[in-house]
Amino acid sequence: MSKIVYFSRKYENLINGKVVELAKGNTEVLADKISSSIACEQLKLQAVTSYPKSYTKMLEIAENEKRDQLRPLFYGLEESLIGEQILFLGFPNWCGGLPKIVVHFLENYNTKGKIIFPFCTHEGSAFGNSLFELKTLCPHAKIMTGLAIRGSRVYKADEAVKNWLVQYNKLEE
Ligand SMILES: Cc1cc2nc3c(=O)[nH]c(=O)nc-3n(C[C@H](O)[C@H](O)[C@H](O)COP(=O)(O)O)c2cc1C
Repeated sequence: MSKIVYFSRKYENLINGKVVELAKGNTEVLADKISSSIACEQLKLQAVTSYPKSYTKMLEIAENEKRDQLRPLFYGLEESLIGEQILFLGFPNWCGGLPKIVVHFLENYNTKGKIIFPFCTHEGSAFGNSLFELKTLCPHAKIMTGLAIRGSRVYKADEAVKNWLVQYNKLEE
């Protein structure tokens, strides 16, 4: 059985060098596509202290989180997640790697023996350092090939999602 856990932030973001207001976060769009392709439930990581709408303010906060190795609090996720063998983990690339809220989640969730399918959205750096971080945080999980989609192309990612899910569908056969 599998579940999707993702973090995504709507409002202002940088798309092709311009600040644009997103009604729905890019990673959330990708999570929706994955969830409807494999009929899998999704859980969203929500920060207890909401992140700002402004892109510049957000960048400053994310840089502080990275510099000071902060662990932003998130609302608890369903207990049912604990029993899942396969986890799809979605996040945006923030400052070259995993958003600290995702790091915090992984530090609190036992991934031993789990299979993780990472997916991310980004604005040019793809996964950056995040796969390395993921392997370090989940040393006893099997990390599958990830899917990285540029935020501005997320609405056109159906084919990429379909191709990426081939490895998942083989596991489920
Ligand atoms: C605080 C912050 C830091 C970011 N840092 C990077 C980065 O280092 N590399 C990159 O390619 N994109 C970076 N981006 C762009 C996001 O990864 C990209 O817009 C992503 O699609 C946002 O996903 P979301 O809408 O689900 O939050 C950053 C965006 C924000 C808000």
